[in-house]
Amino acid sequence: MEKYYHYPLDQLKQFEKAVFIGMGVPEDEAEICADILNAADRRGIDSHGIGRLKPIYYDRIMHDKIQLATTDFVIERDVAATAVVNGNNGMGFVVAKKAMDMAIAKARTYGIAMVIAKNSTHYGIAAYYPLLATQHDMIGITGTNARPSTAPTWGIENMLGTNPLVFAVPTDEPFAFTNDYATSTAQRGKIELYAREGKALPPGWVIGVDGRSKTDPQEVLADLTTGRAALTPLGGIGEELGGHKGYGFATVVELLSAGLQMGGFLKQLNGVQNGHKTPILLGHFFIAIDIAHFHAVDVVKKQMGDILRALRDSKKAGAERIYTHGEKEYLHSLDRDRTGVPLPLAVCQQMSRMRDELGLDYAFEWDEIRLKRHL
Ligand SMILES: NC(=O)c1ccc[n+]([C@@H]2O[C@H](COP(=O)([O-])OP(=O)(O)OC[C@H]3O[C@@H](n4cnc5c(N)ncnc54)[C@H](O)[C@@H]3O)[C@@H](O)[C@H]2O)c1
Repeated sequence: MEKYYHYPLDQLKQFEKAVFIGMGVPEDEAEICADILNAADRRGIDSHGIGRLKPIYYDRIMHDKIQLATTDFVIERDVAATAVVNGNNGMGFVVAKKAMDMAIAKARTYGIAMVIAKNSTHYGIAAYYPLLATQHDMIGITGTNARPSTAPTWGIENMLGTNPLVFAVPTDEPFAFTNDYATSTAQRGKIELYAREGKALPPGWVIGVDGRSKTDPQEVLADLTTGRAALTPLGGIGEELGGHKGYGFATVVELLSAGLQMGGFLKQLNGVQNGHKTPILLGHFFIAIDIAHFHAVDVVKKQMGDILRALRDSKKAGAERIYTHGEKEYLHSLDRDRTGVPLPLAVCQQMSRMRDELGLDYAFEWDEIRLKRHL
């Protein structure tokens, strides 16, 4: 059984911010980055919180030098309800937050608005951005392309990214409806979790070069990097369970992320050229829809809530409870506000390493434990 160290959320956010500042991110933008990373930790999305800080952001900026800590956010086109912005290989978090804010401001005037971001980088949990729209009584939608990892239906090559397609809808409940997930059946973070727990993967998550399912998580992690395995689109291998439908949604995300701004797509985003790591310049899209342009806000929010409550109240089998999307993350956030974020030792070690390399003035509970072991 893996040991976890519980770290209070607000203190974790301060550490995350200090690391971003240490990496060269300006303080106001470090606040944005830490807030988004911390939102993942708070919502229980452990695959995209503090555990990603070192491998995805710190290493790419400090060691691989393929991403910039400063974000030169340029508005390239701005026409009524639409805009195209350029992130110039800066922080995807900052690009995405500013782009969504633009979409929200435009939707207030036009009812619906769409902003496309080009030359951006990994933007973390997709839900963060549409949830900003819900705070303004708007529906928010986003998607992003990502490094290729997913095969098309009847294919075995990793062509598409895990390309999340995410909607958030305001309701009269304490949490918004939020379907926040990849358009692949699983994503790498989940496979890492299975590897850590020594569990076999459910059949259908990963396809090998022979077109058959692979279930050994350690083997899959190695094979995904060498192209000997690919994730399957949502629905799994073949057409029987609707794999072609997930493949279609993943393609829509690729088309909207890259197609309107002439950005890199599919294998162009693999981050390697002639054996060297290269920038992974992603595209994202952000849509805001102001519900006040359709009906009275409170009436719409109640109607949305009624739809979700009807789903949760319907007859059940196999489990005691029916959830609606965003509910589990809301429950996680209540829990984590009380108990903090459970950190596995591997993540603690990454935190210590970043602290030491940046010379940050932090003492961790696990330092003591290691010290005692060495006495
Ligand atoms: N930036 C990127 O490139 C990128 C790529 C892929 C995924 N992501 C992020 O990774 C995170 C995890 O993605 P994932 O694909 O592993 O998600 P997942 O498979 O864990 O699904 C999570 C979603 O399903 C909902 N959910 C879970 N159980 C449910 C139930 N029984 N009934 C109703 N709803 C339920 C949750 O509320 C949530 O909306 C997300 O935040 C996503 O945005 C980011």
